[in-house]
Order: sequence, then structure tokens, then C-alpha cells
Amino acid sequence: MAYIEENKINEIRNSVNIVDIIKEYVPLTSKGKNFFGVCPFHEDHAPSMSVSSDKQIYRCFSCGAAGNVFTFVKDYENVSFLEAVSIVAKKAGISFDFTNNEKKTESKYSDLFKITSDSSKFFQNNLYTKDGERALDYLKRRGFNDEAIKELGFGLSTFNNSLLTFLEKKGYTASDIDKTSLISLDGKPHDVFVNRIMIPIHDLDGNIVGFTGRDFNNSDGPKYINSKESVIFKKGMILFNYHRAKDYVRNNHELIIVEGNMDALKMYSSGIKNVIALMGTALTTDHVNAIKKMRSKVILMMDNDDAGKLGMYQNGNILKKNGIDPEIVLITNAKDPDEYITNFGVDKFNNILKSRESFLNYKLEYFKNGLNLDDVSDLSKYIKLVLSDLKNENDKVLIEVTTKKLAKDYGLDYNNLISDLIPDTGETKSGAIKIEKENKEVNLRIDEAVANIILGMASNGKYIKLFIKQLGFLPEKWQRNIVNEIRYYYEQNKTINLADFISYLSDKIDMQNIVLEMVSKYGDLEITDELFNEYIHAEKKILLNKEIKEVKELIKKEKDINKKLELGEKLTKLKKDVEKNGSN
Ligand code: UTP
Ligand code: MN
Repeated sequence: MAYIEENKINEIRNSVNIVDIIKEYVPLTSKGKNFFGVCPFHEDHAPSMSVSSDKQIYRCFSCGAAGNVFTFVKDYENVSFLEAVSIVAKKAGISFDFTNNEKKTESKYSDLFKITSDSSKFFQNNLYTKDGERALDYLKRRGFNDEAIKELGFGLSTFNNSLLTFLEKKGYTASDIDKTSLISLDGKPHDVFVNRIMIPIHDLDGNIVGFTGRDFNNSDGPKYINSKESVIFKKGMILFNYHRAKDYVRNNHELIIVEGNMDALKMYSSGIKNVIALMGTALTTDHVNAIKKMRSKVILMMDNDDAGKLGMYQNGNILKKNGIDPEIVLITNAKDPDEYITNFGVDKFNNILKSRESFLNYKLEYFKNGLNLDDVSDLSKYIKLVLSDLKNENDKVLIEVTTKKLAKDYGLDYNNLISDLIPDTGETKSGAIKIEKENKEVNLRIDEAVANIILGMASNGKYIKLFIKQLGFLPEKWQRNIVNEIRYYYEQNKTINLADFISYLSDKIDMQNIVLEMVSKYGDLEITDELFNEYIHAEKKILLNKEIKEVKELIKKEKDINKKLELGEKLTKLKKDVEKNGSN
């Protein structure tokens, strides 16, 4: 059944030319084989987006946006994938029963979402009964008016078993109720949330997947109780307020990340709508992918305490590693954004939002924590911290400027400092740095080879066959998962091209994001047989060298002399294989 849909989607895509469709949104000029235009997905001044009529894909070499005609319309119009398909179908004059198709893709958890959404309504209703007076008063005192309370879905859990009874009366099965983790079935079934202000937590698409319940009675229990992880509530995949913020982020190209849910809600209801909260966790890969999809500037604004400062440093590093250089806003005179707005008003808050500093600048201050820079030993610790951080910086000018400032501020020799960071003298002053650099280069090469092997296979069936024959597998699990999808797609359709394969990944968003990242990096490369073979050889050599290293380790550890010899033979064979892969 799914293939019929897929065929239809491919038929629609093949009946239009991506160049014509994108031209309806953005002026394009042709240059050689490709078309170029100003990228609509970031603040572009020079035309950074290229559109390939051959491959039917677009890519922006500045912000990393990439995809096929559907992802373009989807991201431009800010609609779902299927809506984008239907928009393109309309332009192509193909009839396409959109509503019908949308039903089919409804989440498999829609039954559970009914329970969470009914529960939320139940909690909201409690707030406006006699039982809710004190809770409502608490929320008002914290600066939320009726309108905000309704929009944000604040509610109240009352006495034990009230929710359980309500849900049972509604006819939900115990097994479904259990799956939402709203009721505890340990021992006698009971409500998880009792006498707490209830705040719904949504997934990225806006389905209610759990709750966080705040104590408002100064009780002995924890300040917040959160839903337990469940099939629908996965903390590592949820960014609080994302579903509301995403539309606003698209408009002003800025995303503010705060620590607490209440901070996000207070900012949102004060008109600063492009805000999400981390709910006290560190950023996960899923989080980062969701953030990247927004293609916006990222501003970190954690609490004004040690945990907040550490969080800013750690999450900043995670973002940086993933290619996002965040900006930092520091809060002073208040503990967190919520308290600041309550005490000083949103206008003043907007002012501090404007005073940003770079992440690097933040770190230069952060590293001073707990050190007395008048003390030579502390000062030397500090300089080392900064230098080791700068080693991860790619921007040579920034390295130079920072090092100059460091030298000036602390009366140190600039040449001495910089020689550690940019060893361009030809001499190897520091072994550690050299190795680190080499590792970086190897990583880059792996990326390039793997990316082009994957893109090659997704573009042409003959490369799938070549891959199976010559290499067979890729080292990482996520890479193998993509290869499996490519092979599956090819088996089903007997043909493959990049643009259709991108459509196919639309319900496997994480994978699609990875492939699109590869497209944005390497999509302009014309993959030929020769090039593909080169990448296969490069990858094979990398894999063999890895195996050699592992076997060497095993030999070192092995006590049994016979097994040692066996491993030795294996090593010799592997070394020969490397030679066979020779020139490249
Ligand atoms: P904070 O203590 O900064 O919360 O914890 P907050 O947002 O300022 O809350 P208010 O203003 O006192 O109501 C930050 C986040 O850590 C999680 C919550 O997600 C909170 O938003 N947290 C905190 C818990 O899960 N449990 C707790 O007991 C406390
Ligand atoms: Mn707070």
C-alpha cells in the first residue's frame, strides 16, 4: 500500500522541474549547468543557493539548507511534507487526495494522544472550579493572566484517583492509560500527579506527551514532578515549547534557549515567542537536529547560577560541535528570565536580550571561575584552558585576535602562544597538537568518503551493486541504517535517484536530515565511476587500518601462543590487503 503512495509522490515530483517551482518563490539565474538564487532559509545577501536541474535538488552552501522540490516548499511555506506534496501536485495539475492521505499517516500513538489531551482538558477545567482557586491565584501572582493560562494549557491536578476515575469513565482501557504513564500501576493504581499545577509538555509536532507538575503549596516533595518516560514521552527528543516557537523562529531567524519551563512560558506570554526550554537536561543529538532544522541563530540564556553557567558552557560546546555557534545572554540581578521579567518588566528584559556576547567571549570569562589570575600558577592554568579551547576553533582570524588580546592582557609573548596553535613553521613543536590535527583530517576524509558513497548509491543503482561487491558495509550503525534504506528502496522500485530517495525519507526525519546535510556539503559533486571507486578504496583502506589496529591490540593482550600466531597471520593478510588497495 505504501508503494502506491510512494509512486504517486514520485510521479508528482517527476512531473515538475524543481527550477520552475523554486522560481515561483525566488528569482533564479542560470550559470553553467546550475541555477543560482538568494537562499530564503537564512539572511542571505549574495546568492548562496544553487538548484540543479539534472539532480532535481537544491543546496545552500552558506546555511546548509538542501533537499528536493517537496522539502523546499515544505520549509518555505512552513507546511507538512504531505501538504507540500499537495501544493506541488496542484501546480503540476495532478489530482491528489490529500485529506485521505493525511489520515493514513496519522501517528500510531493517536489513541494515547487522546488520553493526554483529555487529561489536559480535565486539569484545565479543575483550575476554574472551586478547588482551583488557590492554584489560579498562584499563577496570577506569577504573572499569568487568564488568556495566557488558557493558551499555555495550565491546569490543576486535585485529589488522588480523580484523573483515573475520569479516564475510566471516558472508557479508556487500562492498558492505554498505563502507556501514557499518567497513572501509576505500582500496587494499587493511583494518579501520579496530585495537587499540583499541571503544565502540558508537547512533542515537536505539538501532541501532548506528558506533564510537568509544580508544587504550589510549599510541600515537602520536589518542586516539579515530571511524567515518566513512556512510548510517547522521550525527554531526549522533546524541547519544551518547540511546537509553539517554531513558527516565530522562522520569521525572525533567532531561537532563544532557556533552562526552565516557567522561563519559556513567561517569555512566551510576554511576547518573546521564539523560545524553548531544556527542562534541566543537556542537549541530545535529537535536540540538536530539531534545532538545526530551524536554521536560525541560537541564543543561550541559562540561569544566573553555577549550574546555569556550566549548562551554558556544556550546551554551547555541544552546539558548536554540531556547527552552530551560539550567542550568549547573561542575566544579572535576577535568578532566571522568569524572575527578571516579574521584577523588572519585559521592556528591560528585551534590553538585556539585545546585549549578547560570543560563545568564545563567554568561555574566556567562564574559564576564570575559581581562579585567581594574580597567582602565577592559576594564571598559567587559565592560559592553558584558553589555548586548549582555541585548538578546536577553525576560524584562524579569531584565533589570532584572541591570542593577541590574551598576550596583551597578561603580558605574555604572542609568538609563543600562537606557535602552539598554528604550527606553520614546519617544525613540530608539540606532538600532541600534531596528532590532534591529523585525527581531524582523518575524520574529515571519512566524512567525505562515506557521504559520497551514500550519495552515489542514492543517485544510481549501479553504485549500490558496486558497493556490495567492493565494500559491503560501512563502519557506523547510522551509516548502515541509511545503506539499508537505500537498498530497500532500490529493491522495491528497481530504480533510484537522489530526489525521490529524499521524499522517501520524509517519515524518517533523522535520516533525512543526515542525507540532506551530505547533499548540502557534497551535492554539487558529479559522481563518476572513477570517483566512486576512489571513495570506496579510501573507505576500505580506513576500515582495514582500523582492523589492523584492533588486531595489534589483541596480539598485545593475547597470552595463548597459538592464538597469538593466528592473529599474527591475520595481521599479515590485512597488511597485504592494504597494499592491494595501494595507490589510494
Ligand atoms: P529551575 O529550578 O530553574 O526551575 O529548574 P524554574 O523554571 O525556575 O521553576 P520555578 O520558576 O521555580 O517554578 C529548571 C528546570 O529543571 C527541571 C524543570 O524542568 C525546570 O523547568 N526541574 C527542576 C525538575 O524537573 N524538578 C525539580 O524539582 C526542579
Ligand atoms: Mn524560576
